[in-house]
Amino acid sequence: MSDEKIPFLDLVTVHRGLQDEFVDVLKTALSTAGFIGGPMVKGFEEDFAQFCESRFCVGVGSGTDALRFALIAVGVRSGDIVVTVPNTFIATTEAISQTGARPDFVDIDERTYNMDPGKLRQYLEKECSWDSGAKRAFHKQTGRPVTAVVPVHLYGQMADMDPILDLAAQFNLKVIEDACQAHGAKYFSKKIGGWKTAGSMGHAAAFSFYPGKNLGACGEAGAITTDDEQLASVCGLLRDHGQSKKYFHDIEGYNGRLDAIQGGFLQVKLRHLKKWNDERGENASRYNKLFAGSRVGIILPYEPEWSRGVYHLYVLRVADRNRLQTILATAGIGTGIHYPIVLHLAKAYEGLGFRPGDFPVAELAASQILSLPMFPGLSVEQQTRVVTEVLKSL
Ligand SMILES: Cc1ncc(COP(=O)(O)O)c(C=O)c1O
Repeated sequence: MSDEKIPFLDLVTVHRGLQDEFVDVLKTALSTAGFIGGPMVKGFEEDFAQFCESRFCVGVGSGTDALRFALIAVGVRSGDIVVTVPNTFIATTEAISQTGARPDFVDIDERTYNMDPGKLRQYLEKECSWDSGAKRAFHKQTGRPVTAVVPVHLYGQMADMDPILDLAAQFNLKVIEDACQAHGAKYFSKKIGGWKTAGSMGHAAAFSFYPGKNLGACGEAGAITTDDEQLASVCGLLRDHGQSKKYFHDIEGYNGRLDAIQGGFLQVKLRHLKKWNDERGENASRYNKLFAGSRVGIILPYEPEWSRGVYHLYVLRVADRNRLQTILATAGIGTGIHYPIVLHLAKAYEGLGFRPGDFPVAELAASQILSLPMFPGLSVEQQTRVVTEVLKSL
């Protein structure tokens, strides 16, 4: 078996066949001086809205912008509480804090690593009291209103949206899906009786097109999807200094536009996304098969029957994760940890007063998870070597 290095992510090969189309995008931008906004951004927004089965898409500068603008647009204000999970990238909570709200957390399901709807119910029923006049849940300890929830579709697997949406309706919460890792993921909604696409279930959703994502730009980019025309229009203002037309500022906004060249690149890449997601799914099934029968000591990713994930990451769980990561690194195999520090224990959030043990499921998972190489183009030989090295280490 070859001892060639296996990268965690290969972003070179995937772009090789696209270079001519990318050059065309650059030529269009240069020949029209269309660097900001314009047809390439609009074209991508239309295509991505259609891909997500959503009515509107607003291209923005990053996934973080998308979360921040969506939260502001749904009405989250300074002093509110927005509930999310502790095992996400810090952008989720940064966006919440940057609206002036306070992030609070509920624990995750130990098999899916996504928000546990039962824990969300417990939080809303036990830690909050319902004010029927204000039609709001107020957090008992801080007296703050709880106004929104951000389920994160982590690793490309959707959160269990039916019960989350039911709770949100019951407690008058806005729902912003953090779909930054879940372009094209599907959820079977029993309520609707059909499959729904990530980004089409909440009041709005945020996507990141950071280069390593399933749909990645060649730089920074993001988007908001929503079915609500008014929300889409406010997000459109927020990304562009609140301008309805040049120098007419209806509100104060941000510089958070999607670059036209990135819009053009993304439009090219979006045509391949279904095929790339299918390849990731095949890679995941192959890993599962290669590990099957020898699973003592490792926990494989779990996909509930209502989920069709897009395997942004393939995450194993083992008792001594650090040892396994070192062994794989010595064998030339790249891995990642998503994420090593649960956010309630991050230094940045010391001031919120959380303690170890507050969210035990997320804390234990954070110490045991390891993301294996996963990208379209990962070969059978590469996967076989990864699995052989993992099994040898046990
Ligand atoms: C779950 C999650 N939320 C938010 C973000 C933020 O996206 P961006 O890096 O494009 O700002 C990311 C991407 O890194 C992410 O993985």
